[in-house]
Amino acid sequence: MKKSPIDQQKLLQKQLQKLICPSPLQEITHPLFDKKKITVSVKRDDLLHPHISGNKWRKLKFNLLEARKQGINHIVSFGGAYSNHIHALAAAGFYFGFKTSAIIRGEAHYANNPTLKQAQKWGMQLHFVTRKEYRERHKCEYLQQLQLRFPDAFIVPEGGSNHLALIGMSELCNEIKSQCNKKIDHIVTATGSGGTLAGLIAGFSHNQNNTAPKITGIAVLKEADYLVDNINILLQQGAIKATVPWQLQTEFHGGGYAKISAQLLDFCQTFEKQTTIPIEPIYTGKMFYALFELIKQDYFKAGEHIIALHTGGLQGLQGLKKRASDKK
Ligand SMILES: Cc1ncc(COP(=O)(O)O)c(C=O)c1O
Repeated sequence: MKKSPIDQQKLLQKQLQKLICPSPLQEITHPLFDKKKITVSVKRDDLLHPHISGNKWRKLKFNLLEARKQGINHIVSFGGAYSNHIHALAAAGFYFGFKTSAIIRGEAHYANNPTLKQAQKWGMQLHFVTRKEYRERHKCEYLQQLQLRFPDAFIVPEGGSNHLALIGMSELCNEIKSQCNKKIDHIVTATGSGGTLAGLIAGFSHNQNNTAPKITGIAVLKEADYLVDNINILLQQGAIKATVPWQLQTEFHGGGYAKISAQLLDFCQTFEKQTTIPIEPIYTGKMFYALFELIKQDYFKAGEHIIALHTGGLQGLQGLKKRASDKK
């Protein structure tokens, strides 16, 4: 007998619940780590779910729960044409029964790229805006107008980065604490909007002892020092007093957001061969590249244990391949 759409959705929700579980914490080896006497583990949030993976799920979860609590079933958010957040939001909408709409930076032809094609298949409505309009996305007035345009909607900021995201990130921190039997000295993550870094700071600031790790964000965009203020604002909005040391490294953007050198691509391929962990060059590739450079520069001390957060984003590889083939 053919299943009704509601039954299909229930089935999918069940599958999703099964798939989302503590993601593995995997130790990796490398001659450089031996030479510098450090240990590196990777928190494999890329494995959380094939479509809502990495920091996307962590940041969206409590936004979706809040929307549901308020009886709202339409989520509106923002993103670039290849956005991992938009892709994940569309999938989450499909699996959990939310209507989703996205304000996309750029021209309507992007609707045919692999990220947005899939988002539409999951039922997301796309609204393309000029780069000028997109720059308004954080302004109160613009958001008020948007709320009038979508009166029934719950508006989630770009990247899902708001105070609700910090709660999901804190869950991740608790998972790490319960999985790890070694002392954790450092946590390293890729940083775009700053929500993930703020969430890690929030999650480890709840630690009352003095064994809290140092948290380091690797900015993937140029001139990213302004993110420090954004992170502090997010922490304030979440009523979090940061008690852990943290730092944003701004020298590893490699030319800017989504700028990919042959050297970076080569690093990503070698890393994947050596560790069997897939990464992509926009976020996790830059983060692991920076991690290796920082190890070489003795940013970490001998004997220390570092956890690198794999924030997912592998769906973006398809878009990168398409862009490369369009250029040919
Ligand atoms: C795969 C991936 N990693 C890391 C980040 C950076 O996260 P945040 O924007 O919270 O700094 C993003 C951006 O959303 C991302 O897509």
